[in-house]
Amino acid sequence: MRLRIPEHLAIIMDGNGRWAERRHLPRIAGHHRGVEAVREVVSECRTLGVRYLTLYAFSSENWGRPEDEVKALMGLLVRYLASELNDLCARSIRFRVIGETDRLPAEVAQVLRETMERTKDNTSMVLTLALSYGSRNEMIRAVRSLAGEVAAGQLTPEAIDEERLNLALDTAGMPDPDLLIRTSGEMRISNFLLWQLAYTELYFSEELWPDFSRQKLHEAFAVFARRQRRFGLTSAQVADQDVHSEENCH
Ligand code: FPP
Repeated sequence: MRLRIPEHLAIIMDGNGRWAERRHLPRIAGHHRGVEAVREVVSECRTLGVRYLTLYAFSSENWGRPEDEVKALMGLLVRYLASELNDLCARSIRFRVIGETDRLPAEVAQVLRETMERTKDNTSMVLTLALSYGSRNEMIRAVRSLAGEVAAGQLTPEAIDEERLNLALDTAGMPDPDLLIRTSGEMRISNFLLWQLAYTELYFSEELWPDFSRQKLHEAFAVFARRQRRFGLTSAQVADQDVHSEENCH
């Protein structure tokens, strides 16, 4: 049987610190191994046909971590992007960023801009990193920009609907995630894509992020494939829709 693959997969990569602490290593060693897991998951998602992969790499709250850890994470990010650029292009992966990127160091912002520019015409998959990202902050920035348009007389309050708000969010143009994976056994959303996750299937894995492998991704997809997404309808209505959409495929 062919596995049903989510069109948009979002991941909260959690547990790097604990992975390192369990081995009596500095936390940054866990982030290093976390980058290896990122490589494996990006590659496998591309192979399996995921169209959008969104990774929570650095939250608004992560700015409060010890300065050396923040610096090390920024350095890892710059090195990751520099080392992956050719591969992203070879595999036609477009790179995007969501979050309050003004807060990032200039060197990081520069690498992000270059990577986005160099990959902007790629079409096989969109890899989005959430950096300095918090969902409430994203919503506040979106609401402010809409309020600005209303104040300038370019928009009426009545014209603000779901579609208009979607366009004002950092994720404009992306479908909502079909599946969210969070690793390390924690069962929280932690201010990630709160608006966009309204109907997303949630999957919590016990693995710490550095141990999250291709195999674990397949297990998550297998669970996702068995779930019936109802979007507020009844099971019978959804079954009926499935029959019709299969008929339309032939
Ligand atoms: C959570 O583990 C992970 C992060 C805060 C950062 C995720 C970053 C990476 C995987 C590496 C850099 C990313 C890219 C894309 C190059 P934690 O430190 O909160 O773990 P803990 O909960 O066990 O302390």
